Amino acid sequence: MSHRKRPPLALSTGALAVCAALACGDGSAPKTGPVKTAEHKSEAKAEKKKARPVPSAAQLLDASKKYFAPLPARAESPANPITPEKVALGRQLYYDTRLSKNQDLSCNSCHKLDDFGVDHEPTSPGHKGQRGERNTPTVYNAAAHFAQFWDGRAATIEDQALKPITNPVEMALEGDAAIVRVVKSIPGYVDAFKAAYPAEADPITTTTIAQAIGAFERGLMTPGPFDDFLGGNMTALNSDALRGLELFIELNCVSCHTGPTLGGTMYQKLGSVKPYTTADEGRFKITGKPEDKFVFKVPGLRNAAKTAPYLHDGSAKTLGDALAVMAEYQLAKGKLDDEETTYLTAFLDSLTGRIDAAYTAKPELPPSGPDTPKADPS
Ligand code: HEC
Ligand code: HEC
Repeated sequence: MSHRKRPPLALSTGALAVCAALACGDGSAPKTGPVKTAEHKSEAKAEKKKARPVPSAAQLLDASKKYFAPLPARAESPANPITPEKVALGRQLYYDTRLSKNQDLSCNSCHKLDDFGVDHEPTSPGHKGQRGERNTPTVYNAAAHFAQFWDGRAATIEDQALKPITNPVEMALEGDAAIVRVVKSIPGYVDAFKAAYPAEADPITTTTIAQAIGAFERGLMTPGPFDDFLGGNMTALNSDALRGLELFIELNCVSCHTGPTLGGTMYQKLGSVKPYTTADEGRFKITGKPEDKFVFKVPGLRNAAKTAPYLHDGSAKTLGDALAVMAEYQLAKGKLDDEETTYLTAFLDSLTGRIDAAYTAKPELPPSGPDTPKADPS
């Protein structure tokens, strides 16, 4: 964010109403002359600031349908049909710290389900407090993305699910066989996997463990006011959010942030209009192609108001910081004025969704068996 002196914030309709009621004016000496009504005053104020007119909700809805879609109730995949048994298992595994070497980390340590699926760290502490290079993205709505991770190196949520468990700076189990060994050592899991996979001779494998976690994650969808709007509720967005949505389309944020999660449908270079300095070469590390340098998955913007800090390295502390990077490096726009930032932020607020507390609550975990490994701090 720039440190230049901010002009007075563009007042939202709500703030104007409060100001009108309090007759707060601009703080200068009492005015003489004809008494103006509160309504005249606020009109004059709006005029002075040239507030962006409130767009027609109906017209904006038509335009929006070209770029966005409501979230599905669940991100279904024919490759991993969702069953209640898999979901229940996936939920337990998600919270189970025995899947980490020192038995002190679960998926929920970094992707906190009661905090929009993040931990608010620029980079998250893993095994022995080690930190990776990238910011932890939210798990909410991630299953609806076309690929997983900032660089898309896992194709599906199931392909992604076991990678953090064996990542030495995350949960640090030593290889996929160790994951299977831990799960098989817990008698309650043995019974539950048998029930979830009755046709399998060997129901506990890396495939079925990944499917269980994936089936649970496919239900982590957070519909909110924006979905209500896309469903035809013309009053679901307040006037600032409508202005922000119009700007989001006008400024062409939609060339990258599109689809049901407003992202997660393509890769783009960070610094598409102006070189951006970052140590992380993004997809180049996966493909080795020069054109993939600094290319990342366009992140989804669902719940963005609640998932600070931002960008692949967590370097943008606030949403305003992230928007400033977008305007300067992703659009030829250069700078957003305070009013534009206010409206875009109001629109992003409307993407804050409803979390199903019953679905995401920590379940009871089955007790360890005699062969379950002990915590290993080394
Ligand atoms: C130590 C912190 C940590 C733990 C523990 C952890 N993650 Fe992550 N997770 C991350 C980070 C960091 C990334 C981004 C890494 C990258 O893109 O290279 C990530 C990425 C993801 C993504 C991709 C989301 C997207 O938008 O691309 C999913 C899904 C995910 N993790 C699920 C899980 C699951 C399931 C577990 C437990 C089995 C887990 N994570 C454990 C830190 C963690
Ligand atoms: C040319 C494609 C492109 C355009 C246009 C674009 N973005 Fe982005 N956006 C990205 C990419 C890529 C990232 C991730 C960059 C990174 O961290 O490496 C991103 C990240 C973000 C983030 C941070 C999300 C997070 O979880 O870290 C926000 C917020 C955001 N964009 C909003 C916007 C807004 C608002 C606009 C329009 C003013 C916009 N973007 C325009 C490609 C784009």
